[in-house]
Amino acid sequence: MPLFDVYPLYNVTPVKGKDVFVYDDKGVEYLDLYGGHAVISIGHSHPNYVKAITNQVSSLGFYSNAIQNPIQVELAKRLEEVSGCSGYQLFLCNSGAEANENGLKLASFKTNKARVIAFNNGFHGRTSAAVAATDNPSINAPINLQQKVTFLALNDIEGVKRELEKGDVCAVIVEFIQGVGGLDQGTAEFFEQVDGLCKLNNTFFIADEVQSGYGRSGKFFAFQHYKVTPDVISIAKGMGNGFPVGGVLIHPSIEAKYGMLGTTFGGNHLACVAGLAVLNTLEEENLIENVNKVSEYFISEAKKIQQIKNIKGRGLMLGLEFDFDVAELRKKLIYEHHIFTGGASNKKLIRILPPLTVTTAHIDTFFVALKSALLNF
Ligand SMILES: Cc1ncc(COP(=O)(O)O)c(C=O)c1O
Repeated sequence: MPLFDVYPLYNVTPVKGKDVFVYDDKGVEYLDLYGGHAVISIGHSHPNYVKAITNQVSSLGFYSNAIQNPIQVELAKRLEEVSGCSGYQLFLCNSGAEANENGLKLASFKTNKARVIAFNNGFHGRTSAAVAATDNPSINAPINLQQKVTFLALNDIEGVKRELEKGDVCAVIVEFIQGVGGLDQGTAEFFEQVDGLCKLNNTFFIADEVQSGYGRSGKFFAFQHYKVTPDVISIAKGMGNGFPVGGVLIHPSIEAKYGMLGTTFGGNHLACVAGLAVLNTLEEENLIENVNKVSEYFISEAKKIQQIKNIKGRGLMLGLEFDFDVAELRKKLIYEHHIFTGGASNKKLIRILPPLTVTTAHIDTFFVALKSALLNF
């Protein structure tokens, strides 16, 4: 049976990973500045992570959400401690789209309204409400278009005010740093005013931290760079360091009801131990401090390269913008210099999303390679 051919693939077959490196089937080492799309937080095959999953799978890999699962309770406790989101409640699921889907559904249940405000160039996943809130018609099927979503420009505070005052908006969903769209950010003033307007208009403010969360922005959550209090915070990618897990942090004022949300696999034993290993390692290895240190170094080095027209993003969620399409440059980096980087819907942008364990020495390796690759452009 052939695979359903939806992914354009690079001709590399990774079979092993260690920290910031992956190794292909021929033993070639690649520096991973893409982190498997911002997923690898504590590094490939971190010993704490391998041990936690190995021990758990050899005792109990899975049971459903019908029984007591103390590992879920422990994960929620540690997440509250490490993130600083005091009093928030945790609902666990399996992916970023599912996290946003649950967040949007909760907003609609609780406000009894249905319209969503989302932003131009945003990305929230591929399930029904999440994809409808994603500003990309090519990944929305007719079935998704029944959702009521209004797209506005980032920083269009008058637009947000006008739409919220119509009284039918259940949620405003935002990425504090846009990922797939190309690392644009709203202003502090905009985010803080949106937060206030949501509270005035009985509308949920949903922070999509699927990509920017878990330390990648230089704080545990990107929204923590601002004075805002989201009702829902969606998480996935870095949360499991590759184990499929997602979740929503739900403001203490929002009451749960049996059956309101649910899932078969969400919060399973393996996902929870993976999540715990990530949180413990982030803390033990001071990885958020490392993010800030390496980010500063990366930006200072990037500024020295004249072909780089713009440096976007923050922390280790960074973009280098050129004045040409970077597809060939990224191929050169992979095939000739053995460095993975990310792309974006902005074709002139290279995205840098390394494991949070990356060092300044790895960044030096990258810039030597980039300068050499740029000689032909
Ligand atoms: C900001 C954001 N939200 C949601 C998603 C969807 O996550 P998933 O692919 O795990 O469903 C992504 C994935 O790239 C993302 O970057």
